[in-house]
Amino acid sequence: MLVKGRLLTPRGLIEGCMKVEGERIVRISRLGERDPQTYDFGGKLVLPGLIDMHVHLRDFDLSYKEDIKSGTSAAAAGGFVAVADMPNTKPRVDSLEVLKWREEIARQKALVDYGFYVGVGRLEGTEKLALGLKVFMPQEYYSGQREKTLRSIEYAEGHGMLTVVHAEDPSLGETPEAEAHAIREICGLGLRRLHITHVSSRAGHSQIRGATCDTCPHYLLLGGSSPPHSKVHPSIKGREDSEYLLQAVRRGGIQAISSDHAPHLPEEKAEGAAGFPGLETSLPLLLTLVNKGELSLERLVSAMAEQPARILGLKRLGSLEEGKYASFTVVDLKAESVIRPEEFRSKSKLSPFEGWKVRGLPVATFVRGKPVMLEEEVVGEPGWGKNLKFL
Ligand code: NCD
Ligand code: ZN
Ligand code: ZN
Repeated sequence: MLVKGRLLTPRGLIEGCMKVEGERIVRISRLGERDPQTYDFGGKLVLPGLIDMHVHLRDFDLSYKEDIKSGTSAAAAGGFVAVADMPNTKPRVDSLEVLKWREEIARQKALVDYGFYVGVGRLEGTEKLALGLKVFMPQEYYSGQREKTLRSIEYAEGHGMLTVVHAEDPSLGETPEAEAHAIREICGLGLRRLHITHVSSRAGHSQIRGATCDTCPHYLLLGGSSPPHSKVHPSIKGREDSEYLLQAVRRGGIQAISSDHAPHLPEEKAEGAAGFPGLETSLPLLLTLVNKGELSLERLVSAMAEQPARILGLKRLGSLEEGKYASFTVVDLKAESVIRPEEFRSKSKLSPFEGWKVRGLPVATFVRGKPVMLEEEVVGEPGWGKNLKFL
């Protein structure tokens, strides 16, 4: 297979073609190669496949909110080749037994590659299937399970697993200080592989030591506002926080951007559920910033592909290079659209970004040499996605 377009490689933008054999990239060149199976994307951009390191695919007893098929369809539509799924499911993913069961379901339903985090619990053996441990400090560390949380962290550290933390101290409410205090405390443990997820404030970010972090589009774009459906944990802070966080993304002090895709039903949102789907809005929102000159394309690709791959330890994803997987995202930087939640592939058809005008859209997503989204249509099949630990 041959892919033609403007390829964003570690050597810069190459107008040329990418030769793919099976699941891998075998050559990238400026030469006019020929192949009976050619995808010619013309002037469109071919980016390393985007990776969302924080999503909630739900499934199990919460399949009415989202399941692994609908969630990974949303990922394919949004330009993501891989997603990392959080363990706050029903039942929780907090043992090898539940993890094996989830893997069994995911291997049948996933359209894109997936990884799992395991929650605080019995971690023995989970390093074989999970990318890391997820710690939800408000309900674990700060709610009478401090010792149990520390034991899980110790296990993760001892087995080379990444620890990803939702850092908030609920005794300080939903303030920047709640985030700052929790981040200071968790960083104080001096872990080798620590990642703070969905950082929402300047105060929080300023406390990070010896850890990587991510933020989400809503913290970058919605500071100081509260449109319908925008309730989320951590809460959206002020305008200055948004400006600070965007500047930190530009400078690399925030390494990654995740969506925290958190689907709920409208009636649950009305009753106060926190979170909203993000897989189908993240890339268009951020490409709009690129078009406005507020974020460089290189930083976007770093935060959404290279760095998530590096942080998660995915050696064959994250850049377009010989030998890596042919997982890539094709983008039309000039295409304009409006965010219409009723058109989401996610089961959760709501968004605080409803009605936003965006410029820059994903037009194709390929996972290991196979198209899963083409011309904005999801063409992938359940069962193609693989556990990232097995790649
Ligand atoms: C998430 C969810 O709904 O699972 N909600 C949220 O507000 N972000 C949980 C979480 O990521 O903290
Ligand atoms: Zn969280
Ligand atoms: Zn989350």
